Amino acid sequence: MRRVVYNGERLGLRDVTEADASALHAVYGDAAATQHMPFAPRSLSEVAGLVAQALEAAAAEPRRLYVLAVIDTARRDVIGVARLHIEADHPHSAEIGFGLHPDQWGRGVGTDLVRLLLSFGFKQLGLHRVWGARSPSNLPAQLAMLTAGMVEEGRIRHHVHTPNGWRDSIVHSALQDEWTER
Ligand SMILES: CC(C)(COP(=O)(O)OP(=O)(O)OC[C@H]1O[C@@H](n2cnc3c(N)ncnc32)[C@H](O)[C@@H]1OP(=O)(O)O)[C@@H](O)C(=O)NCCC(=O)NCCS
Repeated sequence: MRRVVYNGERLGLRDVTEADASALHAVYGDAAATQHMPFAPRSLSEVAGLVAQALEAAAAEPRRLYVLAVIDTARRDVIGVARLHIEADHPHSAEIGFGLHPDQWGRGVGTDLVRLLLSFGFKQLGLHRVWGARSPSNLPAQLAMLTAGMVEEGRIRHHVHTPNGWRDSIVHSALQDEWTER
């Protein structure tokens, strides 16, 4: 397996390791960071289980799931987590998901992260389509994806089941032939 290391200007992406569980728990275990996700905040042991699944998926051939630690390249610490999942029936297309530690929010890091994920998907993986689904009320995710060049495609009704019931999603996407790296 070739491990992912993909660096931008102020952020980097790399495969998660077991040592990242507590840094990922700062996102997946946080009430504010999971507010728009379809699950309640995870425990540390649940996050360790997710990391174990990610390591297994990283070894699969062909590889379809990338669970990546988001690195602040200046400080060299893990500030968030990103996922890119290639669809089995549509291998030109992948869904992304992302979350940052709350102490990073509101400084343009999320927008940079979406840009880096698009660059990784198109340039490194040779994908044609990258898409993401957000909660209709997730304004920071909406603005980060729009600013990074992911257009709004429409609404999937009752896309996910959350602890509060069914929730619609708004889909954003970028296509390789209309994308320009910024
Ligand atoms: C979504 C997320 C990654 C955005 O990260 P971020 O670093 O705050 O994003 P940015 O600083 O690049 O901000 C993106 C836009 O949202 C705006 N914004 C950020 N926080 C905001 C807030 N609380 N209220 C309103 N607007 C906000 C910014 O001003 C910016 O708008 P602009 O492009 O017009 O300047 C972050 O909020 C997060 O990790 N949320 C929890 C996980 C999540 O919801 N993931 C998305 C799943 S689809």
